Amino acid sequence: MEKRLVIAMVGLPARGKSTMARKIAGTLKLDEVNVRIFNNGDVRRQLSKQISSGPEIFSPENPDGVKFRDKCALINLESARDFLKNHGEVAIVDAANVTCRRRKLIKKIFPDLPVLFIECMNTDNEALEANLRRKASLKEFSHLSMEQALASFLKRIDFYESVYEPLNEERNFILIDSFEGYILQEKLSDLLPYYDRIRDLITTRIVRNLFLVRHGETYFNRENRIGGDSDLTATGLAQAKGLAEYFATERIPVIFTSNYKRTLQTAAPIAEKQEQCSIISLPEFNEIHAGICEGMTYAEIREQMPGVAAGRKNNKYDYVYPEGESYAAMEERIHRGLQKVFYLNNYDDNIMIVGHRAVNRMILSDFVFRPREEVPYIYMPQNRYYHIQIDPQKKIFELKPYARKSIKENPQG
Ligand code: F6P
Repeated sequence: MEKRLVIAMVGLPARGKSTMARKIAGTLKLDEVNVRIFNNGDVRRQLSKQISSGPEIFSPENPDGVKFRDKCALINLESARDFLKNHGEVAIVDAANVTCRRRKLIKKIFPDLPVLFIECMNTDNEALEANLRRKASLKEFSHLSMEQALASFLKRIDFYESVYEPLNEERNFILIDSFEGYILQEKLSDLLPYYDRIRDLITTRIVRNLFLVRHGETYFNRENRIGGDSDLTATGLAQAKGLAEYFATERIPVIFTSNYKRTLQTAAPIAEKQEQCSIISLPEFNEIHAGICEGMTYAEIREQMPGVAAGRKNNKYDYVYPEGESYAAMEERIHRGLQKVFYLNNYDDNIMIVGHRAVNRMILSDFVFRPREEVPYIYMPQNRYYHIQIDPQKKIFELKPYARKSIKENPQG
């Protein structure tokens, strides 16, 4: 059976194509398949530093732009063909490929090889917007303000949308919801190598290195007050500095936080120590909302609201703070936050989340089953972090110190 395969990504910009391409390549590499990604955008950026980020070259009405982009596509496809002629096994063509004309060109370049088109769609507007913001902060747009970069990118998307033709006649394709990780449609006319593996990995969550960190000590933590939006104490700042030094030797391209100061203040020094690192704050990772108990100490709750204390003692997972939340109520938003993380991190090997005590418990339990009644008691210290690694063969959760000399922490915090 033919061992070579061409995978051509399809989809409008910012729909998660490159992330999916990296996920497929990363997994096949572990299976010792000789796989490489060929990205049209890389060729375009190399050939023309000046005009690559402006939206005009993406206009179908601009003959020079069309010619230039056709040239880039051809160069890229020829590199993929050379790779497959020289012991390459899987070539992934990472480009929009949204027109039938472009897809026919791909078939023409590889007349004797099977081609699998993989289209990424995303109908979640919030995730899409966050992805656009992440893209607009890339080097390609560094000469523009965030608003200008966004406008330029949206114009580019409009141009692609105006010529978009859905997959239909192609012999082999998979249509996926790249945010949810679902397969929406599938057509298979040929016997394709690696197909089962690829199909399986599309829907499997793979985590190479997730560093799950809890924010450093805050003034509220010190007094055992819950909720609020308090700043880090000197100890908390020292913990953030310790984390920054510890992770300086790792590459952390993005840190995901909540919207609260304590997670942002913990992330800031870590990001500063990195060569390139952006911070994305997600409301999904905000700490459990304690309603009318926000800002109270546990002792005050016991004294002034014994019903709350008793309710939590009885069933901490399902207990809903008056005008607030329960752990159970957080399930959906935490899951959604994680979907955003995987969609936005571009399938980089390293992911960092700086969260809160209850949030991090929920994140951990999203990866590994824990009985509901145990989740609200998972140990979540501020002077250690969880290192999570998951693939179809293994699931590893390690609680590790990040400072050689542990920074003392509030025993109840
Ligand atoms: O005390 C810090 C904190 O993050 C509070 O803001 C939050 O209410 C609490 O921990 C969650 O932990 P538990 O559910 O054990 O009270």
